[in-house]
Amino acid sequence: MISDRKLEHLLLCTHSDVEYHKKTGFKDVELVHKALPEINKEEIDLSTSLLGKKMDAPIIITAITGGHPSSIEVNQKLAQAAGNLNIGMGLGSQRAAVENPELTSTYTVAREAAPDALLIGNIGAPQMEQALEASQMMDLDAMAIHLNPLQEAIQPEGDVDSRGYLENIKKTTEEMKIPVIAKETGAGISGNDAKLLENVGVKAIDVAGSGGTSWAAVETYRSPDKDMGELYWDWGIPTAASTVEVSQSVQIPIISSGGIRNGLEAVKALALGADAVGMALPVLKTSYLGEGALEKFFQKFMDQIKVAMFLVGASNLKQLQKTDLVIQGKTREWLTERGYNTKIYARRSSL
Ligand code: FNR
Repeated sequence: MISDRKLEHLLLCTHSDVEYHKKTGFKDVELVHKALPEINKEEIDLSTSLLGKKMDAPIIITAITGGHPSSIEVNQKLAQAAGNLNIGMGLGSQRAAVENPELTSTYTVAREAAPDALLIGNIGAPQMEQALEASQMMDLDAMAIHLNPLQEAIQPEGDVDSRGYLENIKKTTEEMKIPVIAKETGAGISGNDAKLLENVGVKAIDVAGSGGTSWAAVETYRSPDKDMGELYWDWGIPTAASTVEVSQSVQIPIISSGGIRNGLEAVKALALGADAVGMALPVLKTSYLGEGALEKFFQKFMDQIKVAMFLVGASNLKQLQKTDLVIQGKTREWLTERGYNTKIYARRSSL
């Protein structure tokens, strides 16, 4: 049952070690400190707009849940926080409700709790024929198609015939009234795949790179064969490298996510070209901590963002995208081997 699997995923992710051992690569990214920031930290403006929606900060709670009775409460809490802070939120895969309409309220509760926030629907690439129906389930601002070949390959009941997905995404972008986002689930998107997705009409890309939640790890706990999940636990393109690859390859907005755990990492992702950052696992865990915990969590995250922005002299996100930074270590090795230019960030503020 899909519904049981949803509950199992929630429990596993909150109680077991499901994160990559390999890192996101953001440690390799150094923002160049400014001894003369020449801005007022109190006036830093985090507001932005994404897919036509104004947001008070470039933060999205990426797809987590829906489809099990217990996810009503989770989605309600996430949406209340998203609404209060005017940030974005993604629903978990809506497949469960497309197949069993009794579960619809586990998703629509989010729109009721956040009438004005950027709300993103979700369907898996293997279920793309359900995308239109999912998009009509409530008032959504965009529909994310999630790409999860790693999870499908490791999970016992996985769908491993991925032929024709790109063509189906093209059809979906054409028939859908709302913008389509292509989203990985933790293994990252390469520059080349990003270009293919942009060319078939996708309007934004969530890189969801490796370094945070590992779906090979999650499936290791569910699978009778632990060896396979353990072998592929760390598979994927690290988030920092994926963010650079995608931002140097496409013009559409980019959401950087996968293992982003603090405001400093968020600032690095934004400086590398992301238009917003996303988080799932830490937000899910915080949602269980009681009244006001999510608001506190995001307030702290935004305070952290502002400190880094102050120290590089950026009073808004546009200025942040021009700040100087140096890419070192493994991330530089990856990017230079792949033919991406890592020098363009180093002194760009003085060009
Ligand atoms: C997810 N994620 C996810 N993604 C998606 O597109 N559809 C989905 O239904 C789900 N479900 C889901 C459940 C749970 C419990 C977690 C923790 C995550 C993936 C999520 O949106 C994100 O891309 C990854 O988790 C990487 O980000 P973090 O967790 O490292 O911040």
